[in-house]
Amino acid sequence: MKALILSGGKGTRLRPLTYTGAKQLVPVANKPILWYGIESIIAAGITDIGIIISPETGAEVQAKTGNGDRFGAKITYILQDQPLGLAHAVKIARPFLQDSPFVMYLGDNLVQSQLDLFLDKFKSKHLDALTLLCEVENPTAFGVARVDQDGKVLELIEKPQVPPSNLALVGIYLFSPAIHEAIANIVPSARGELEITDAIQYLIETQKNVESFQLKGWWLDTGKKDDLLAANQVILDTCLDSTMAGEVDANSKISGRVHIGKGSRIINSTIRGPVTIGENCQIENCFIGPYSSIADRATIIDTEIEHSVILTEAKVIGIQQRIVDSLIGARVQLKVTPQRPKALRFMIGDDSQIELA
Ligand code: TTP
Repeated sequence: MKALILSGGKGTRLRPLTYTGAKQLVPVANKPILWYGIESIIAAGITDIGIIISPETGAEVQAKTGNGDRFGAKITYILQDQPLGLAHAVKIARPFLQDSPFVMYLGDNLVQSQLDLFLDKFKSKHLDALTLLCEVENPTAFGVARVDQDGKVLELIEKPQVPPSNLALVGIYLFSPAIHEAIANIVPSARGELEITDAIQYLIETQKNVESFQLKGWWLDTGKKDDLLAANQVILDTCLDSTMAGEVDANSKISGRVHIGKGSRIINSTIRGPVTIGENCQIENCFIGPYSSIADRATIIDTEIEHSVILTEAKVIGIQQRIVDSLIGARVQLKVTPQRPKALRFMIGDDSQIELA
């Protein structure tokens, strides 16, 4: 059994962050989204992993993630020249996949892991495809499955106007090598992509065994800012351990579950968990409230923050109003020097959003 993780694509919904970096490397609770997928695949016993990368962000994904040694796995990178669809990614990965069955995992997904149960069903029933489904409130925004009472998939419909169920396709699939023949028999959709839903539909129509597995835990798509903040909240709630590798001075107060990384200094500040702070950060005269993740080498002075994600080397200084529900990119500088500023001076990248509420 092999794994194919898709970490190419454009990431348009997470601009401007994705102008300069891969969306799959945006951290949730200070760990790249992609790594959660890698870890859950390895936890299910699969260590031969291919990762689809794009020309724009591939080098960064590769440099950060490495050859798999850090995870105890073997990672092969596969370049997809253009994001021509999920099925296109499988097509170009054929030399890596050969005739092995495989799990396909979208690299921007966070799923509460049940991969081993999912795998057991696929193997024991000798399926050609097993799709992971999750109940959603707005099925019109997703690929949706019509299934019978035994979980057999009868039909898949991409973003249906009249959804046949509220069961959306989570971006995790298991395939036998029969998927390659299906992909060879489909054509690009109206949006110009080779759709994996069309390939699975082909399997259904050619009487292959396609079943579904309903996810009981949470599933988070991290494509947009608010999804990412929600994912950060869930991960901090469920996975954060208190660890204190940095320095906290006598005037600071730490409560709840808080992780403070090596070399970080907390001075005259209150930190109310769940909060994770990376390495070599400086936090001075601050309130850092629940559900905040602060990445390595960030500097935060005279500021209040909660329910926010701050990326590496950002500097946030002198913001009197509480910063909430925010995603602040790497190396951003956000500074108010006098107490009552008379002017606001900005240099803000394309597609940024500033809200003075
Ligand atoms: P999407 O979220 O569907 O596409 P995207 O990354 O281009 O994002 P946006 O909608 O914001 O523009 O992709 C799901 C995952 O699959 C994501 O991790 C990117 C990856 N992907 C590929 O690797 N190759 C592709 O051809 C496509 C379409 C996506």
